[in-house]
Amino acid sequence: TGYIALDPGYANTGSCESAITFIDGDRGILRYRGIPIEQFEQAPNFVEVAWLLIFGRLPSAEEYRAFSEQLTASANLDESMKHHFEGFPRSAPPMAILSAMINALSCFHPEYFELDDRAHFQAAAAGLISKIRTIAAYAYRHSVGQPYIYPNPRLPYVPNFLHMLFSQPYAEYVCDPLVRDALNLILILHADHEQNCSTSTVRMVGSSQANLFASCAAGVCALWGPLHGGANVAVIEMLEQIHRGQLSVEDYVRLAKDKNTKMRLMGFGHRIYKNLDPRAKILGRVAEQLLPKLGVKDPLLDIARRLEEIARNDPYFIERKLYPNVDFYSGILLRAIGIPTNMFTVIFAIGRLPGWIAHWWEQAQTEGMRIARPRQLYIGLTPSDYAPHESRV
Ligand code: CMC
Repeated sequence: TGYIALDPGYANTGSCESAITFIDGDRGILRYRGIPIEQFEQAPNFVEVAWLLIFGRLPSAEEYRAFSEQLTASANLDESMKHHFEGFPRSAPPMAILSAMINALSCFHPEYFELDDRAHFQAAAAGLISKIRTIAAYAYRHSVGQPYIYPNPRLPYVPNFLHMLFSQPYAEYVCDPLVRDALNLILILHADHEQNCSTSTVRMVGSSQANLFASCAAGVCALWGPLHGGANVAVIEMLEQIHRGQLSVEDYVRLAKDKNTKMRLMGFGHRIYKNLDPRAKILGRVAEQLLPKLGVKDPLLDIARRLEEIARNDPYFIERKLYPNVDFYSGILLRAIGIPTNMFTVIFAIGRLPGWIAHWWEQAQTEGMRIARPRQLYIGLTPSDYAPHESRV
């Protein structure tokens, strides 16, 4: 009843108050709980940032130790979950497995359905942050037909993930500190971004009082699409297409501007940033510095730089304020540290998980929280009668 103002894509609809992340899209500013993201570059530690986002401040030494212990203690999956992986074809997209397996955690951990106090919530959050990494690694190992590698309780969060991805029985993966720091930084830069599509999904599902695991499984599905987290794969596909000579950089930019094609310049544009995405700024710079240090020469980096230069000098992109976003350079960095392309969006999901958990909890703590339920304008048929099957032409 009454007047309904439509707002496609909720571009101008505020759905909640939040104290987690601040973005100023015009000035290219992003802060987690007040801290500018650039400051996490010094000694990138994803676990610390996860705590910060979820609990509102940096952890004390004791809190950090206790949380790390919880992560270590909950890294294993219930052994019977391994059978679930066997049921998927080897070619299954790891994002599908990730979402299904996070949802499956609900079956194994009913003790976390009702999170009544902070300690109980913390245990659930640690369990999920730890297990998503094991699920992601197992999904990868399944896709390449290699044996699952159990988490090693002596390894910190990121090296343990790399160990589960890349170690072989009796041949342990040795983690280069440069790779460890780069992956920590990538995860941190993805850790929260206020009311983006996947976080809003987690909040929406959570608003029905669905449990934390079910809500985050829905977040993974929302993230999967190429306009959101899936863009990091789409960017690499675009760069590879150019590298193979199928299209030149100029052709690609021309087609991305042409409204008769469905093409877009992937990794460009953002709903909130009308300036350079600060995450893209960091990732572009780090890629430039890290690749030579790792001895990696990637022609895709040069192609990305040329694409950026041409697009940023083109009136179409200037008028629409379209700049590189987080996905433009992240894939080049992920390739350089050995992450396979089909795992890029999974890495985004692991990074974004603390943000989803923080928002889910913030919402659950909000007085007077209501179930999310947008309205619509009905544009269908006027009343009509049901026709029995025989009388239909
Ligand atoms: N290439 C070409 N044109 C574009 C692009 C692009 N990448 N992005 C936006 N436009 C044009 C769009 O066609 C429209 O033009 P016009 O006004 O002539 O109709 C105008 O710019 C505004 O675009 P919009 O689609 O209304 O913007 P939005 O806020 O709804 O969408 C976006 C934001 C990120 C989905 C979009 O910019 C896009 O599709 N980018 C490419 C995919 C991508 O890189 N996604 C990752 C986003 S950042 C990380 C994340 O959230 O996961």
